[in-house]
Amino acid sequence: MDDQDCHDYRETVATAFPELICIESDALREGVLDAWSKAMAENGLTDLDSLPWFPPAQRNLDLPDEYLVPHVRDVTRGALALAETLTERRDLDISLDTLLAGALLHDISKLYEFDGTEPTEIENLLGHPHYGVAVVAATGLGPEIAHVVLSHTRRTAIEPATIEAELVHRADEAAAAAIRAQALDDLREG
Ligand SMILES: [Fe+2]
Repeated sequence: MDDQDCHDYRETVATAFPELICIESDALREGVLDAWSKAMAENGLTDLDSLPWFPPAQRNLDLPDEYLVPHVRDVTRGALALAETLTERRDLDISLDTLLAGALLHDISKLYEFDGTEPTEIENLLGHPHYGVAVVAATGLGPEIAHVVLSHTRRTAIEPATIEAELVHRADEAAAAAIRAQALDDLREG
């Protein structure tokens, strides 16, 4: 039995993402935990802290110390803050559970797309973030969560159709810009 056989993936995921407790539905919270645990196990990972944010961009920007977990937390908290602000003065129906689950899973495909900082066959053949849909589906989460994942970036042809997906898309752009702004005086340059 090696480390991986007895590793408590769910404990590692729950510790990495305190925002999980904000998901009200037990089934949805368990689904997000299952998806991250499955992605860790399938990729031989026992540690989340060392996962890079996005290796090609980090190489271009010379930002080696940006990591995936704080980025995912930035996106999740940013999307939640937007939702809370936008519902203060208008009757807008936003599912915070869908928003939180989608945000927490938006970059799950990166566990399959990079081995360390090197692109895998999944990255080469599918590109970001398409494999996230397969992970979401394999965990039994519905298409509204897969839609948030697939539409979170302009790399796919799917644009956000729901307010939850739109807010995660915008929060991801803002979080990525915050990373890029550390290396660029003009964000249009990289
Ligand atoms: Fe992201």
